[in-house]
Amino acid sequence: MISNEMASTIEQQFNMELYSAYFYLSLSSSAENLSLKGASEWFMTKHFEEQAHAMKMYRYLKDQGVDVKLHSVDAPPSPEAMTVLQMMEATLEHECKVTASINNIVDQALSEKDHATNIFLQWFVTEQIEEEATVGEILGRLRLFGDRPEGLLMIDTELGTAATKMAASGATGPTVGN
Ligand code: FEO
Repeated sequence: MISNEMASTIEQQFNMELYSAYFYLSLSSSAENLSLKGASEWFMTKHFEEQAHAMKMYRYLKDQGVDVKLHSVDAPPSPEAMTVLQMMEATLEHECKVTASINNIVDQALSEKDHATNIFLQWFVTEQIEEEATVGEILGRLRLFGDRPEGLLMIDTELGTAATKMAASGATGPTVGN
């Protein structure tokens, strides 16, 4: 059994993961409005991935005997009129906030000598490294090639391929695309 304080902290992180799912759904919709099918699928894949993160936390809380409290999820900011570059910048900024939040929970687990939660969180620590690196790489390519139509089309195609691979790997739960 984990402490009430730790349960509350993980409930907040569960909410943040659900917000992340909502955030990426919003960006997927916006990319689709721009006829950028690959980017739209990539963000939709992120949407499902974040749902899976949330449910990992939910499962952990239930397995620890916690009566999980569900709180309302904030609406994401409107991404209207954002370019794909701006969407990816917003993605990196958001993921850095998630990383900081996960790190704070690890600090709390260590201070409480809560070894189970510390071990549980290691998966998220590793996941955040990968997520930030992936978005950083996409941003690099967008900055190099994204201001030319043919460059943007190439990156959009790459994002669609990456989304299909992510979905096929099973990391995201439900499938994406049409
Ligand atoms: Fe679940 Fe992208 O953090």
